[in-house]
Amino acid sequence: MDINNNKIFPMDFLWGAATSAFQVEGGYSDGGKGLSVADVASFKHSDQYADTKIASDFYHKYKQDIQLMAELGLKSYRFSIAWARIFPNGNDEQPNTEGIKFYDDVINSLLENGIEPIVTMYHFDMPQALIDQYNGWQSRKSIDDFDRYARTLLQHYGDRVKYWLPINEQNLMIRKDKLLGLQHLESGDMKERLRHQMNYHMFLASAKAVDACHELCPTAKIGPAFAYLPAYPATSRPEDVLAAQDSDRLLNHYLTDTYVFGEYPAYYKHYLEKQGWLPQIQDGDEEILKAGSPDFIGFNYYVSFAAQYCSPETKADYTSILNPVLPGYFEYVPNEYLDATEYNWQIDPTGFRKSFRDLYDRYHLPLMVTENGLGTADVLNSEGKVVDMYRIKYLKDHIGQMRTAVAEGIPVIAYHMWAFIDIVSSSNGFKKRYGLVYVDRNELEEKELRRVRKESYYWYKHVISTNGDDL
Ligand code: BG6
Repeated sequence: MDINNNKIFPMDFLWGAATSAFQVEGGYSDGGKGLSVADVASFKHSDQYADTKIASDFYHKYKQDIQLMAELGLKSYRFSIAWARIFPNGNDEQPNTEGIKFYDDVINSLLENGIEPIVTMYHFDMPQALIDQYNGWQSRKSIDDFDRYARTLLQHYGDRVKYWLPINEQNLMIRKDKLLGLQHLESGDMKERLRHQMNYHMFLASAKAVDACHELCPTAKIGPAFAYLPAYPATSRPEDVLAAQDSDRLLNHYLTDTYVFGEYPAYYKHYLEKQGWLPQIQDGDEEILKAGSPDFIGFNYYVSFAAQYCSPETKADYTSILNPVLPGYFEYVPNEYLDATEYNWQIDPTGFRKSFRDLYDRYHLPLMVTENGLGTADVLNSEGKVVDMYRIKYLKDHIGQMRTAVAEGIPVIAYHMWAFIDIVSSSNGFKKRYGLVYVDRNELEEKELRRVRKESYYWYKHVISTNGDDL
C-alpha cells in the first residue's frame, strides 16, 4: 500500500539515536566504577577486538558528543546508565557520588541542548560483583538489588528524565551465557532450568522498576526495550505457519505478554512445563508482576527470520541468535526474498512495518523504536570522509516503512537509530560500526578517537529538520 506521506509524523515526534554505557563510555574504572559482566566478557577478546576499557571514550568526551547531537538536531538520546558506576559492587550501602554526578552532567547537558534523555537502566552490564556474590540473576537477591538501583535512579534523575526503559533486550540477554554468568556450565537441562529461573527473576525486577516509576515519577513513562525478532513461515505448509507462530510466541511474545498482562501466558507455561523448566514461584509474585504493566512498548528491530517446522528429534540450540533450534517447534532457513549483511542479518524494512502492526494490534499501547540500524565496516577515505550510502539506504527504507505504519494510524512516540556514534559492537568490536559519527580508532589502537560526521549524519539531519517528510 502506498500512502501520501507528507506531514505524517506528529510535531513532537522524537527523532533520536541510541547507545549503551559499556559500548560507548570507556573509563571502565574511572570515578570509582566497578567491573560489569560486559567488561569481563570483552576483556576475554582484548587481543582481537576493542574492549570496553576506552570504547569510544564518551566518558571523557560527552560534552563534545552532545554538541554533535545538538548540531544534528537530535530530539532524544537513548543511553544507558552503568549499574556499576552507581553501585560498583551492585549493592553497596551508598551510591557512588562520582557515578551519580557523571549522569547528572550528561542529563543536564542534554537538556541544555534541547535533547530529551531516554534512560535504559540496565543494558547487558550487571555488576560482576553480583555474579561473584550470588551468581547474579540466579538468586532472588538480584531482584531487591535491582529494585534499589532502579529506585536510586528514579529518585535522583526523575525530576528531569521523562522516559525510562528498565531492561534492554531481556529476551536476548537471557540467551547469552556470558552475560548471565552461565558460561561455565555444560549445556543441558540443568542449565536451561537455571536460565528460565533467571528470566523469571528478571521479570520480577522489571515489574518492580515499572511500579517504582509509577510511584516515584507519576508523570514519567516507562516501558521495555525488547528485541523484536519476527519470523515468517518458510512456506505455506501449515506446519511452517505454526512454526513461525511458535517462534514469535517463544522468543518474543511470551516476554511482552508477561510485561503487559502480568503473568506468563498459558502457551508459555505449557512449553516450560513440557520441558521441565517452570521456574519456582513465591507467594506475592503474582501481585508484583501485575503491578508492572508498562506505558508503552519499546522495541529494537534489525532483522526478520523464516521459520520451518522441525521434528522433536532435531538437535536443540537454545542460545544461537541467528539459528536457534527448538525441537518439535521451529528452526530457521534463509529467506530467499531478502538480502543480508556480511554478518548474515537479513535486511527487511517490510518486516519493520509488520512489527508495528504486530505489536500495536496485540497490546494497543504506543510504540517506541529503541534501536534500528546497520552494522558494517565503514571506511574513512583519503579525503577524510565516510561515504556510507548503504546505511542511508537502510535507514531510509526502514523509516519509510515506519512512516507508512504511522500513516496507517499506529501511535509511535520515537525512533532511535542505533547508534549515534560508533560503538564497541556487542560481538565484533569496532569492525562492525553502527554510528552516524565515525570514531577514528581501530580494534587495538585508540589513536585520538577523533569524531568524523558520516554522510548518514547529514542525511539524518535533513530527515529531522523536515520531521520525516523528506527521506
Ligand atoms: C542489540 C543491542 O541487540 O543489537 C546492542 O541492544 C547491540 O547493544 C546491537 O550493539 C547490535 O548488535 P551487535 O552484536 O552487532 O553489536
